[in-house]
Amino acid sequence: MDEILRQAQDDGKLTIMKIWEKGGTTDQQIEAFTIGKDADLDLLLAQYDVEGTIAHVTMLESVGLLTKDELDLLLPELKTIHQLAIDRELTIDERVEDIHSQVEFLLTQKLGNVGKKIHSGRSRNDQVILDIKLFSRAKIKEVASEVKSLFDQLISLSEQHKEVLIPGYTHMQVAMPSSFGLWFAAYAESLIDDLTQLQAAYKITNRNPLGSAAGYGSSFPLDREQTTELLGFDSMNNNVVYAQMTRGKTEKVVSQALASIASTLSKLSMDVCLYMGQNFGFLTFPDHLTTGSSIMPHKKNPDVFELVRAKCNKIKALPNEIDHILGNLPSGYHRDLQLIKEGYLPVFDELLSCLSITQLMFNEVQVKKDLLDNPIYDYLFSVEVVNELVLQGKSFREAYVEVGKMIAEGKFEPKKELNHTSKGTLGNLNNQYLVKMMNEVSSAI
Ligand code: ARG
Repeated sequence: MDEILRQAQDDGKLTIMKIWEKGGTTDQQIEAFTIGKDADLDLLLAQYDVEGTIAHVTMLESVGLLTKDELDLLLPELKTIHQLAIDRELTIDERVEDIHSQVEFLLTQKLGNVGKKIHSGRSRNDQVILDIKLFSRAKIKEVASEVKSLFDQLISLSEQHKEVLIPGYTHMQVAMPSSFGLWFAAYAESLIDDLTQLQAAYKITNRNPLGSAAGYGSSFPLDREQTTELLGFDSMNNNVVYAQMTRGKTEKVVSQALASIASTLSKLSMDVCLYMGQNFGFLTFPDHLTTGSSIMPHKKNPDVFELVRAKCNKIKALPNEIDHILGNLPSGYHRDLQLIKEGYLPVFDELLSCLSITQLMFNEVQVKKDLLDNPIYDYLFSVEVVNELVLQGKSFREAYVEVGKMIAEGKFEPKKELNHTSKGTLGNLNNQYLVKMMNEVSSAI
């Protein structure tokens, strides 16, 4: 089943038809295959579809394509449908193909012929792009605010545990002293760059494609600047052919930014899984936040972070999936684009759940103090001893060889007082610098 419903009012009965139906019938299997998951997925777009229609009909009236009386009939009805969409009470009739058709059907059912006028100068092709952009804009804001709140938490944990040292690793070998202050703030800083990418994606999304119709514009005198303004877009996708090309491209650019946030979260989760294990034992969580084993009574498993890691790794695959769907498509609309909705529309809530569960966990993180008293970490301080010799006048290379010799001969004594003063190091986290950067980027979304 594909398109819109029309009223055949000649015999006084309402007949539901696709908006593109011209009298013939479509094979049921073909209908089911082509509609795919739209009946469910399009509900996520419902609110935005109606917002787009409200702007469109307002503009149609101002350019003389609807009368004031017709607009006055349409607007209250559209507002009712908008509320139904927000309250998640809207459904897509199984004989109707998608949300665009459903809205037109509801209007026509209620208002008769005037409902059929809303499609003037429009196509579902530009409607669906518009819906995706409005949906993305709202969801990007939600993601940005969750990222900011995780950032704030990480900065506060960094400050709280800035004196607590942990080993730093290279090649998974004990390398140099680090701290929980550095570790938490490193991920906070990573989120700043991720949000910068999201800000760019937001900017690209925030341009109005409406008026491109099927992808080649309309001979009606549509006022595209008016709908740009009414829908709160920064600007237009000016060229109608390009406006159509933003279907798929928008989803790709946004999902790349989401994938960047997901990469930060999956790396963080990997660290947590390692640090929770007995071989590291750097941090843990209270029992009510961890899970056990059905057979091994001692287990305290990091399932939450394993799932965050896997969900985020899956999110990282989305830009690739979209890229493959778009890969060899020429310009103009193609039904292929419909499939992008399957991975794209649900991804925001998936990422949001990862961002919020991470915060729930970190609310109760317990860090282990005095880790570096363990002699297995003594070599963390080898560079400190080298540096001390340098301060006493030796060249770095001479000092390096000398300490290497001490280690080889088993005479190495760690020097555990640390004096890191340069910005962004364990003795001078300079977190206020990060806070300033984050405020700049998050206030721009
Ligand atoms: N469900 C379709 C999609 O998501 C709506 C647009 C249909 N347009 C068309 N020309 N068949 O792409």
